[in-house]
Amino acid sequence: MSKRLILLALLISVLFVACIQAAPTEAPAEETEAPVEETEAPAEETEAPAAGDQVEVFSWWTGGGEAAGLDAMIEVFNAGNPDIEFINSAVAGGAGTNARAVLASRLAASDPPDSWQAHAGQEIIGTYVAGSQIEALNDLYEAEGWLGVLPDTLIPLISQDGNIYSVPVNIHRANVMWYSPTVIADAGVEVPTTWDEFFMACEPIEAAGKICLSMGEQWTAMHLMEVVLLGELGPDAYNGLWDGTTDWGSAEVTAALETFNQVLEHVNSDASTLTWQDAAQLVANNDAAFNIMGDWVDGYFSGDTAGGNLGLVPGEGYGWAPPPGTDGVFQFLSDSFVLANGAPHPDAAMAWLKICGSKEGQEAFNPVKGSICARTDCDAELFNVYLKSAMEDWASDTVVGSLTHGVTANDSFKDEINTALGLFLGDLDVAAFQEALVAACSSAGPCQ
Ligand code: GAL
Repeated sequence: MSKRLILLALLISVLFVACIQAAPTEAPAEETEAPVEETEAPAEETEAPAAGDQVEVFSWWTGGGEAAGLDAMIEVFNAGNPDIEFINSAVAGGAGTNARAVLASRLAASDPPDSWQAHAGQEIIGTYVAGSQIEALNDLYEAEGWLGVLPDTLIPLISQDGNIYSVPVNIHRANVMWYSPTVIADAGVEVPTTWDEFFMACEPIEAAGKICLSMGEQWTAMHLMEVVLLGELGPDAYNGLWDGTTDWGSAEVTAALETFNQVLEHVNSDASTLTWQDAAQLVANNDAAFNIMGDWVDGYFSGDTAGGNLGLVPGEGYGWAPPPGTDGVFQFLSDSFVLANGAPHPDAAMAWLKICGSKEGQEAFNPVKGSICARTDCDAELFNVYLKSAMEDWASDTVVGSLTHGVTANDSFKDEINTALGLFLGDLDVAAFQEALVAACSSAGPCQ
């Protein structure tokens, strides 16, 4: 070591001790290893980290493939941003049912996290943009060249008046029917492609003491309902529910709701007490034949057992198919992250969003999460056989949006549908349910 370096090292130690005394808990150890140039900087630089040195990110990814995916992305973030502390404020609960309630009260109290998980579509535009709760990200898109690598179909769903409001990390498929190869083979049935075939298949399955279709708490019933509506109405009339061109009071909607009612006769009686993981696990354990759920189930089924997943081999431990009537249609949703209006740490939040939109971040996140990249340039070889099939379908199928996961309706319309659904799950009165849906469309939906 040269004399000059020794002197500088001494100077650093002195400054560091002074700094520790001034701010004992906040000076990170790396500061003692600062390169030579940094030792020549003015004393202020050695003081406690600026407010930009942490980022609070809010989501509902706390278990299984969800947490593993988030952790993988956080690792990429930490590697590129060693001076920013990542604060993971995830709140447990599938589909964000709990998390979004916590978020809403924080936003109402002007206490936003820097960045939060939000679904592309009406959840962003009709809720957060409408409430002026998030910032436009056009400069970031331009700087990172993202318009060239994100699908054209996605950008309008996160934009308003030329402003782009979120960074999509993935594409999930909502309409997947997971099945137990063992249960259906034992019952001697094929995977049904229509609801009539499904009802017929349930007979031997139930006769063998198995659940035909596993379901969980209320949001999973909404998920099932939207898939039945899609299968029964077809993509055009299904889309019309969200833009006002399909009449919620029509005979075709009545017929679809009747089918939904009939499907509910074949679900487990303890559904309301189960999470989506519990319900999916009934298929993995060969207690149920089918489960209709988004492809986060693939992350849960195939992920590492060490991370709380089931470690099954896709195609062996579980199978998948489009739910009845939805072959050729990809009912999608996209998780994205936003920048809070008034974010406490806007620079650090931008550093996080850069990772969310990056190829490296998305390649780390998606294969574990059970989703495909929102970006179009990810390496397909990183993904398992199910996700490869999802990539092909995403590229070739007719694409429609999910209600339960924020694409087609804003929070007020969705909340009213959810209230009507809650009553229906209690009384199974199709006519009353349909009336409530018609009323929801008039008071909060496109029929206003
Ligand atoms: C969805 C979300 C997915 C997955 C799922 C179950 O709303 O977009 O990423 O987490 O909920 O929790």
